[in-house]
Amino acid sequence: MIHFDNLDKQWPDGTKALSNISLTVARGQFCVILGPSGAGKSTLLRAVNGLVPPTRGHVEIDGVVLSPSTQRHLRRRVAMIHQHFNLASRLSVAANVLSGLLPAVSTARALSGWFRAEHRRKACALLEQVGLSPTHLKRRAGDLSGGQQQRVGIARAFMLDPEVVLADEPVASLDPKISRDILTLIRDAARERNTTVLCSLHQIELAREFGDRIVGMRDGRIVFDGTPEAFTDERVRALYHGAQWEEPPRAPSTAAPAFELAHA
Ligand SMILES: Nc1ncnc2c1ncn2[C@@H]1O[C@H](COP(=O)(O)OP(=O)(O)O)[C@@H](O)[C@H]1O
Ligand SMILES: [Mg+2]
Repeated sequence: MIHFDNLDKQWPDGTKALSNISLTVARGQFCVILGPSGAGKSTLLRAVNGLVPPTRGHVEIDGVVLSPSTQRHLRRRVAMIHQHFNLASRLSVAANVLSGLLPAVSTARALSGWFRAEHRRKACALLEQVGLSPTHLKRRAGDLSGGQQQRVGIARAFMLDPEVVLADEPVASLDPKISRDILTLIRDAARERNTTVLCSLHQIELAREFGDRIVGMRDGRIVFDGTPEAFTDERVRALYHGAQWEEPPRAPSTAAPAFELAHA
């Protein structure tokens, strides 16, 4: 479970990237973060692995508050998938997947390049799970297509069986067919392990298709939070074109918090 408690982030130049974000994402949920460029999606995701220290408020992962003293421990449990893959392009596919272990191994071992046989087996199994064959293992990561590179990025992210995967626009540089394949791989790998996924996207149709829940952000604030079904075209327009988002009228008996709706 990820819990954001009254999170604010103001950059030194005065930009308020996050304003009063309170959000709880249940274990195993695939939560899509949607919103125009500059809405604060990346800042929100990066607050979960400690890359962006908040100005106010805090982030909790399974009840543990992220702080300088817990960050090292929590980093092993939180993996990231990037828009531009962030692979070491001159290293092999195998080395890139094994680098997913780095938060958990000593620097000396990482430098020596020595990994236990069980880890090598796990890397192979993950590569197979993301649809790459053993013939890819020794290829230079930078020589693969974008879709294949993101498959490597997914395998790397799952090396430590993380409780949380942060995917920041993981398909923004891929074509629609490959985007769907990649999101399917992330969703399936996460379901198998009950991993919580926070995934920012800019494609509304993909958000509706893959999200258990959609959180819409604009100007650092949450302006929509609900199921894909509740994310109507009207809500899409409100998110992207700035119409004031208002709580829809509900009968008292159905006035459940939005995050509960996501599980209904
Ligand atoms: N390192 C930074 N320093 C200053 N401002 C930043 C920095 N990173 C992001 N911002 C600003 O914070 C706001 C939110 O950015 P970001 O989280 O990247 O939005 P999104 O991912 O939704 O496009 C934007 O106004 C952006 O310009
Ligand atoms: Mg971003």
